[in-house]
Amino acid sequence: MVRPKDRISIVGLGFVGLSLAVANARNGFNTIGVDTDGAKIDRLKVGQPDFFEPGIDAMLMESIRQKKLHFTTDFGYAIRNTNITFLAVGTPLESGADKVNLSHVKSAVERISLLVRSKNDFHLLAIKSTVPPLTTENLILPAFNDLIKDGRVDVVMNPEFMSEGTAIANLLKPPSVVIGANSKRGSLALEKYYKDFYKTPTEIIRTNIATAELIKYASNAFLATKISFINSIASLCQEIPGSDVNAVAHAIGKDPRIGPLFLRAGPGFGGSCLPKDLMGLIEFSEEIGKRSDLFKAVKEINNEQLKTMIEMIREQRILSKGNTIAILGLAFKSGTDDVRGAMSVRVVEKLLECELEIKVHDPMALKNFKQIFGSRISYSTSVGECINGSDCCIILAEWDMYKDLKPSDFKRMRSANIIDARRILRAEEFQCMNFRAIGLGR
Ligand code: UGA
Repeated sequence: MVRPKDRISIVGLGFVGLSLAVANARNGFNTIGVDTDGAKIDRLKVGQPDFFEPGIDAMLMESIRQKKLHFTTDFGYAIRNTNITFLAVGTPLESGADKVNLSHVKSAVERISLLVRSKNDFHLLAIKSTVPPLTTENLILPAFNDLIKDGRVDVVMNPEFMSEGTAIANLLKPPSVVIGANSKRGSLALEKYYKDFYKTPTEIIRTNIATAELIKYASNAFLATKISFINSIASLCQEIPGSDVNAVAHAIGKDPRIGPLFLRAGPGFGGSCLPKDLMGLIEFSEEIGKRSDLFKAVKEINNEQLKTMIEMIREQRILSKGNTIAILGLAFKSGTDDVRGAMSVRVVEKLLECELEIKVHDPMALKNFKQIFGSRISYSTSVGECINGSDCCIILAEWDMYKDLKPSDFKRMRSANIIDARRILRAEEFQCMNFRAIGLGR
């Protein structure tokens, strides 16, 4: 007998939720995306995502055309017409506080709990939102306890490991799938879904709910640790004449126990995940009375990168009113238009304090940057326009278009001071200029 395909609803259509929604629709699941933001839903209905992600636009249009993907603000409609709900609402840090804000999770859970009560068939809630360990047990499960006991609902934790810029590829071919469940029934229900989703077998790692929550935090904290480690080595290289952190990273990365990835020295990690989840882990450790020295050091080292860059600019004696700084690359990394948690935001805030003129360029993130800084800085649509006439140029994101820049591209600067915070230029070509780079000894 052919099993009917699961019908999927996704609650919360940010980067994770929407990527999940289109991937499910593409893999043949009838999918309903639901969000409280009506304007967002209207845009999605006509195929317009709020963010750039390679491949998502075409898949979104195709899924809508094939009627595999629907969008609504009506939670009741979404829950009634599906049997698995993925919860993908945001868990940002509270503004001005280093605390994870679980209010979106809480209100979505309350809604879902009410709505599943009017259903007759079994409903599975899979938590995709990144939450501190024990959140599911303390905050989510209590809303469903009676339904779980009656066998009508189950709740599982199913963390997501996709990166911006490669989200769809990560979703379609993950190294493994983590299912955190406190009952066999919940685990089996999600395993059945994954067997349909992935035609080729994918390793499934089964844990309890709290372990799955911790796996997600541990993954992002470890990536952050690798970056802060290499940035610490980079700061040593800067003091050792002729040394180069890229050579160190290349060599140690050859050792399979270390591995080559996430060893690119730079301005520090940003984005909406690594800083937030590291903070969440610090907060959680402290709450349960455990030391978080390592995690705090990783965070501190990341903050130091901002100081390192400002120090490099200071050494060029241009930190005075009226001088112009050109910044190339605003996104928190190349391949995305996202500036959340981007080092560029912190650098610009700092430079504005010195009353410098600031010109910025990015192939994708200008619009999002403008929403933060408005008319306080100028926005260039070409690299030349940004660099020309400036006193210092800082490269903050590793876009391909910056990699081939030559000394001649900088000849119309007022004074040729260059800071390569991403180590993407060929340093040897720039010896004729005042060139500084993260992790490069003078
Ligand atoms: C991160 C994780 O990589 C994903 O596995 C995870 O699923 C995701 O968070 C999430 O929790 O949703 P993402 O934030 O998209 O993904 O970005 P990363 O590729 O991890 O980059 C984060 C920051 O680290 C960027 O600012 C990047 O430039 C920086 N980075 C990365 C370095 O400075 N050096 C490196 O070698 C690698």
